[in-house]
Formats: sequence, C-alpha cells, structure tokens
Amino acid sequence: MIAPSMRIAIIGAGNVGGALGKALAAAGHEVVFGVRDPDSEKAQAASGAAPRSEVTNPADATVDAEVVIFALRWDAVPEIAPGLPEMDGRVVIDAMNRFSGDPARSTAQDLADLLPGAKVVKAFNTTGYENMSTASGRQQKAAMFIAGDHPEANAVAATLAGDLGFQPEDVGGLKNAKPLEEMVKVWLALAERHGRSVAFALSDD
Ligand SMILES: NC(=O)c1ccc[n+]([C@@H]2O[C@H](COP(=O)([O-])OP(=O)(O)OC[C@H]3O[C@@H](n4cnc5c(N)ncnc54)[C@H](OP(=O)(O)O)[C@@H]3O)[C@@H](O)[C@H]2O)c1
Repeated sequence: MIAPSMRIAIIGAGNVGGALGKALAAAGHEVVFGVRDPDSEKAQAASGAAPRSEVTNPADATVDAEVVIFALRWDAVPEIAPGLPEMDGRVVIDAMNRFSGDPARSTAQDLADLLPGAKVVKAFNTTGYENMSTASGRQQKAAMFIAGDHPEANAVAATLAGDLGFQPEDVGGLKNAKPLEEMVKVWLALAERHGRSVAFALSDD
C-alpha cells in the first residue's frame, strides 16, 4: 500500500459496502462496518471477507473514522444520518446512486445537506460492485471518477481509489456528482453487452 493506513467507516455492508470493505482492508486500511444489524449474516460475511475489520452500528462505526463511506440504498440515509456523530471536517465518500426523486439533485448534494461540515466526495459509484476488488488485476486501468468541492477530500478519495488499483480522475465540484450518477445508466447498458466486469477507462493519446 502506498498511502498510510486510514480508519474507514463503511455504512452499509451490502454489495458495494462489502466489496469496498474487502478491497480497502486488503490494501491495508482499518475497516469498520456500520450496519443496522451487526449480527446479520450479510454483515458478518462482509466483515469476514475484510481482514481485521470490525462491525458495529453506524454511529459507533463513524466515531473515530477519518473517512466515512456511504454504501446504502438512498432511502435509508435520511433515517441514519441524523444519528451519526458530528462530521465536521471529515471526508465523507458517497458511493450511492439514485434514479428517483428530484432529477436535478444528486445523493451527494443531499448527503452534504444532512451532514453539515462534512467534506462530501462522490466516488465509487460508476462501476459495478464486483469491480471494486479486482481493479488492480486489470491490464488497462479502470477510471474512478471523483467529484467534490473540497480538494483535500477529493485527494483522499483519489488515494483510496488508487490503492484499489483504479486510475482516479477528479472531475471537479460536487455539481458533477449528478452527471456521475447518470453515467451509471451508461455503465448498465454496457454491462448488458459486455458483462459486469466492464469499466470506464480514459484514452488521452
Ligand atoms: N450494486 C452495484 O453494483 C452498485 C455499484 C455502485 C453503486 N451502487 C449504489 O450503492 C448503494 C448500495 O448498493 P448495493 O448494491 O450495495 O445495495 P445492497 O446490497 O442492497 O446493500 C444496501 C445496504 O443498505 C442497507 N440498508 C438498506 N435499507 C436500510 C435501512 N432502512 N436502514 C439501514 N440500512 C439499510 C442494507 O442493510 P441490510 O443488510 O440490513 O438490509 C445494506 O447494508 C446504492 O445506492 C447503489 O445504487 C451500487
């Protein structure tokens, strides 16, 4: 691992939370899952696949975390966010997508409103969960797009994406989080034709 180890809370231990937890723990980070039922089979399986990880409730998971990753179904967020400790200045990565509600609003913008002071970054939402832990094995690096208003938080997300084997690509402010959510529709169409291992990549020469 290139970057120093970070303590990372992952809220949600489903497909995405589990895959990110496994990959980040394998990269040497300290992972703690925050879930509604820490004893559930799903949560225990995610923790079992992520070396040295812990599993607890969302509030306890975030207490000492330097980075908090949201990997929930959006519907769960308004219920969970108010119960979390203060996020002031902390890096919060939004890996979620939402295709209902206000088409002008991203989950990242709504998350930033729910977590005052958090440095919210959109990342890890533009590829299938299966690709989170296999990026380092690709011949051509897959791109991981990052959007956020705090350059230092974007840099943290970029470091983590790099640790997982992605080519991090900062695409600007949080206003670009919605276009990143829209890109998932393109990814899904490509996955229909090429399979779920397909991923976006950049060609610049
Ligand atoms: N699937 C993908 O390939 C993919 C890729 C990129 C981004 N995303 C986005 O990532 C997010 C998670 O997707 P996923 O595929 O990981 O979903 P998932 O497998 O269904 O996992 C969702 C997680 O949310 C939790 N959750 C759901 N409702 C809850 C509630 N009311 N209260 C507390 N926790 C609740 C679940 O907990 P329980 O286990 O307790 O139900 C689970 O940990 C979504 O926003 C999705 O759009 C998905």
